[in-house]
Formats: sequence, structure tokens, C-alpha cells
Amino acid sequence: MERMRAWVLQQHGNSAKAFALQDVERPKPGPGQVLVRVQASGLNFADVMARKGLYPDCPPLPAIVGYDVVGMVEAHGPDVPVATPTPGTQVVALTRFGGYAEYAITNAEAVLALSGEGLPAMSSPEDLVAATALATQYGTAYHAAIASANLKPGEQVLVHAAAGGVGTALVQIARQRGCTIFGTAGSQAKRDMIKEAGVDHPIDYRQDDWPDAVRRLAGERGLDAVFDAIGGKTFRQGKALLGPGGRMVSYGAASLSDAPNKLVRAIRGLAFGFYHPVQWLSPSQSLIGINMLRLADHRPERLADCLQGVGRGFAEGWLKPHCGGAFAAEDLAQAQALLENRGSTGKLGLVW
Ligand SMILES: NC(=O)c1ccc[n+]([C@@H]2O[C@H](COP(=O)([O-])OP(=O)(O)OC[C@H]3O[C@@H](n4cnc5c(N)ncnc54)[C@H](OP(=O)(O)O)[C@@H]3O)[C@@H](O)[C@H]2O)c1
Repeated sequence: MERMRAWVLQQHGNSAKAFALQDVERPKPGPGQVLVRVQASGLNFADVMARKGLYPDCPPLPAIVGYDVVGMVEAHGPDVPVATPTPGTQVVALTRFGGYAEYAITNAEAVLALSGEGLPAMSSPEDLVAATALATQYGTAYHAAIASANLKPGEQVLVHAAAGGVGTALVQIARQRGCTIFGTAGSQAKRDMIKEAGVDHPIDYRQDDWPDAVRRLAGERGLDAVFDAIGGKTFRQGKALLGPGGRMVSYGAASLSDAPNKLVRAIRGLAFGFYHPVQWLSPSQSLIGINMLRLADHRPERLADCLQGVGRGFAEGWLKPHCGGAFAAEDLAQAQALLENRGSTGKLGLVW
């Protein structure tokens, strides 16, 4: 029986106590699956939610979480599609849990080749960590902005948490599509960073009157799209800023994650608001909900399309993931705390 090291989520709670680095059995690829020898494990905000017991899709504990890895294909299971990257190819993979480990398995559709065909394998810790973002965060952004909201040149879009992992990707896509970009961020350093990245209007959404600032700048047309993973009151405020034909893309609820108790969480949840269909129909607006896990499980071909699109953007150079911290594999607790406490930009990851 082959073994590996993995961070096992043993209990809900703070990052220093919740995980244990353990010697566990190495997974075996089943039909249609690929085994990856992991070089870097990416962190996602969903992992923080899982650690806090706020993520309904998390498997029962003990569990290995982690949505994306970069590494070398080690082996194929039976019946993988012909185009699957071969052993020895460096890939980024969306793992659907199991990513915080030295080896991870995933479906062949969720794997994107990074080396081969003239592309050398990357090796610096920062490059490896940055590339892990191409699976979950860039895949989510691609599905949100291109496959779902179908951004057009000249549209006015608002990206919340624009300095974060998904936010960075959304800004790059909106920029490539020729949109005017409003981006929110929670600190001056982050707002300076997103300005540099191409956000036309950095907004401090810790100020209560931030919607007024957006309204003034957006003018009568209003916003064409809002990308929101903050949820609660922020969602309601975003809906109010949409113009006719606007799309509200809802893909998370980070604002519920730091509620001190269930009651406060429920109250913040109610702040999303309650909507009658006429409130969308009349202004010809749409609400788009996104859960990449559901796509991975039930529409793997759509996930594969997103990853292929991300791969093209990466190769062409207009998608450039940014490493916000490459941590030694032993330092998971520090990396998780940085993400939880809104201290991070771009992508954080562990290097094995
Ligand atoms: N639905 C899906 O399939 C899907 C897939 C991927 C990600 N997501 C969601 O997308 C969001 C971004 O994910 P990510 O991994 O790229 O994370 P991230 O954006 O790098 O980190 C989260 C950021 O959210 C902002 N934030 C606002 N309120 C917060 C709060 N109460 N607690 C913590 N952070 C808060 C912070 O930025 P500021 O300091 O600038 O406010 C923070 O840095 C998350 O909500 C995640 O759950 C959803």
C-alpha cells in the first residue's frame, strides 16, 4: 500500500488546531481518473468555509479538502479519454476535495496540461502556486464572465473583492473584453494593486456610501454586470446598481463567514433580500447562480470547456494568475489564517 502526506481536516475551528499533517494511503485513480503527484496545492476561500463548518458540500470529517493542484501526471485510471495529458506532463487540476496532499486524483475532464508542445514545466514556488489558480478561480471566473454573463466591449462591470483569487481573474477577463471596471477591495494597498491591474474605478466598500460612489460614476446607464461572492447586504446593494439588461452573478457569501453566531449569520443571510420575478423581468435583468462543484459533477463537459478557455488565455498571456504567497507545505495554518483575515491578494498555495 503506497503512502503520502496529507493535511487532514479533523475538526472545525481555527486554522492552528483544525488540521493535522498525517501519513495516509495514497489514492488510486478509478475509471476516467488521473493521479497527480502534487507540486503545489492551491488554497480557496471555500477551504476556510469548510474548516469553519460553513460549507455544506464538504465531506464528513476527517476529510482532505483542497480544490486545485499543480503537479505531474503520475498515472491514468482505466478508460480515460484519448486527449488526457500523459504521465510526466505537468498539469493544473480541479480536484473536488483531496488537494491538500502529495498525491491527488481527479476526473480527466478537470485536468489541463501546462507543459508539453514546446512549453517547459514550471518549477519556481511562485509560478507553481500562481498556476493552481487556473483551475478553480480562473475556471469560475471564466464560467461567470464569459460562459454566463457574456461580457461585451464597453459594458460597465463591478467586481467585488477584486484583489482576491477569483476577483483577479474576473478583472483580467473584463479587461480583455474591453469593459469599464469597478472593483471593490478592503484596503488601500489592495485598491492600489487593482488600479495597477486595470480596474478603472477602485472602490472602498468598507465605506457605507460606496454604492453612491458607483452610481455617480456609472451614470444613468447603471451597471451591466455585478460579480458578487460577498453576499448579504452587498448583494442587495449590487442589484440596485444594475441597469436595464444587467446581470447579477452570485457565486458566494463571504460576508456570512465571520458572523459570530448562527443568529447573526441568519440575519446577514436575510439581507440578500427577497425578490419577486417581476423585479428581474421588468428591467430585463438576470440572476445567475454559480456552483462549480455542481458543474464538475453534472456537466463535466462545461467545466472542461472553461478549463480549455482558461488554458488559451494563459497561453496567449492575457490571463496571468498572481501568486500572493507560496508557503511551505508545513505552514498551512498561516496560509489559511491569511486568507481568512482578508490579508491575501491573488492566489495562496502550499509547495510540497
Ligand atoms: N460558487 C463557486 O463555485 C465558487 C468557486 C470559487 C470561489 N467561490 C467564492 O468566491 C469567493 C472568492 O474566492 P477566493 O478563493 O478567490 O478568495 P479571495 O477572493 O482570494 O479571498 C476572499 C476575499 O473576500 C473579501 N471578503 C469580503 N468580506 C469578507 C469576509 N467577511 N471574510 C473574508 N473575506 C472577505 C476579502 O477581500 P477584501 O479585503 O478586498 O474585502 C478577501 O480577501 C469566495 O467567496 C468563494 O467562496 C465560489
